[in-house]
Amino acid sequence: MFGRGSQLVAKSFSRNVAAASFQRRLASTKSLKETLQEVIPAKQEQLKKLKTEHGQASLGEVTVDNVIGGMRGLKAMLWEASVLDPNEGIRFHGLTIPDCQKQLPAAPGGKEMLPESMLWLLLTGQIPSEAQVRQLSAELAEKGELPAYVEKLIDSLPPTLHPMTQLGMGVAALNHDSSFQAAYEKGIKKTEYWTHTFEDCINLIARLPALSARIYHNIYNAGAPLPGIDKKLDLIGNYANMLGFANEDLTEYLRLYIAIHGDHEGGNASAHTAHLVGSTLSDPYLSYSAALYALAGPLHGLANQEVLRWQMAMQKEIGDEITHEKIKDYLWKTLKSGQVVPGYGHGVLRNPDPRFMALQEFCDARPDLLKSPTIQLVKQTYEVAPGVLKEHGKTKNPYPNVDATSGCVLYHYGLTQFKYYTVIFGVSRALGCLTQLVWARALGLPLERPKSLSMDAIEKLIKA
Ligand SMILES: CC(C)(COP(=O)(O)OP(=O)(O)OC[C@H]1O[C@@H](n2cnc3c(N)ncnc32)[C@H](O)[C@@H]1OP(=O)(O)O)[C@@H](O)C(=O)NCCC(=O)NCCS
Repeated sequence: MFGRGSQLVAKSFSRNVAAASFQRRLASTKSLKETLQEVIPAKQEQLKKLKTEHGQASLGEVTVDNVIGGMRGLKAMLWEASVLDPNEGIRFHGLTIPDCQKQLPAAPGGKEMLPESMLWLLLTGQIPSEAQVRQLSAELAEKGELPAYVEKLIDSLPPTLHPMTQLGMGVAALNHDSSFQAAYEKGIKKTEYWTHTFEDCINLIARLPALSARIYHNIYNAGAPLPGIDKKLDLIGNYANMLGFANEDLTEYLRLYIAIHGDHEGGNASAHTAHLVGSTLSDPYLSYSAALYALAGPLHGLANQEVLRWQMAMQKEIGDEITHEKIKDYLWKTLKSGQVVPGYGHGVLRNPDPRFMALQEFCDARPDLLKSPTIQLVKQTYEVAPGVLKEHGKTKNPYPNVDATSGCVLYHYGLTQFKYYTVIFGVSRALGCLTQLVWARALGLPLERPKSLSMDAIEKLIKA
């Protein structure tokens, strides 16, 4: 959205904000809403200034390629929480994934940052204190139970219905209790939109684990009863518990994966969908339900299940004696049959995805994961695939994205139902999409309505 110079200023501003709040973090006990309330006026002021002083400044031209090429690279959206650099990957308010790993509070006794901590950073641009994160975890646990009618709705669905279809339905149905919708019907002022949106977003994030775990048990566990929410546990501690996985390593993995996968700037299909639907003043439940159906596509959130399916087919074909040569042959076979290599390539990134690297580091630190044939195959494929994809010459990014490994680790820990993996992504992506909905209301962003053109109209414009 800005030039390189202003990006650097923004980065260093965010770093300073993060550093200052890091120093304050042990002392502060303000709630997430109070902290957010404090940071909103400065952002509103920044937007007003941008509009009045630079409203007509150009951020680049729009080419025919942009229009027919899925709007790749077109700078056309405001998104506050994260910015994606094609070479270095994602930064959340200026912080890289390793910065976040160092600074964001983990669970008691844990090492990996909590998604609650990431949510705090995304929403406020600040590093929360441990006390603040514990308070937020407690609030989410308090609000985490599903209403009975949603349980009934989910229980009535056939177990053959895709888990993502079920998740989207459950999320949409939660709008029965939407604070934003009720307040809007009463007629609130525009300046109050964000507080009700915030309430809905927190309620939705709180309820996603119970909803997602219920879907899991109905589909894969013959509707076995779920354990209740433990008020002393964090959001993902409860999610792992409700899924029926008591393994602490898996819980830590889920915390890390869900935190770093929570936001990837605004143009990706799920984030953009949430933003577009939210811009109609649809409530957060409906907006995020729509986003989940974008996430359910094979080029987006379904890739993690596709990777595992592809990798298992490769393993079956090449047998136990895996060599680089055999992987190479399989990669070429995939490409020559006109299929994509799942887990490789990206719409924006042009280097290995730092989220992939963070998950690899998680694996490297655990001998059981290092020994796993599935994880070994991920590593060996990474050693070969970029070269093959470069030689193939089509993809602009021959490197792995986060999905090249995310599902494989889940598989190792016994969560073997591939079709469910995108649901976990859906629990994660709520952090970023819902953050932006709150900010869109706080900043009073308008209805999104780009101009479309027919081919004839484009030709006419070119001739003119
Ligand atoms: C992510 C993805 C959809 C990005 O698409 P994109 O922005 O259009 O990517 P590119 O601009 O590099 O695509 C240029 C060409 O390379 C091809 N390509 C991209 N990634 C490829 C891959 N992993 N394997 C084979 N071909 C690939 C595209 O299909 C396209 O071919 P086309 O011109 O015949 O249509 C794409 O890389 C992909 O399909 N990857 C595999 C699925 C995946 O991992 N998704 C998760 C993303 S986080």
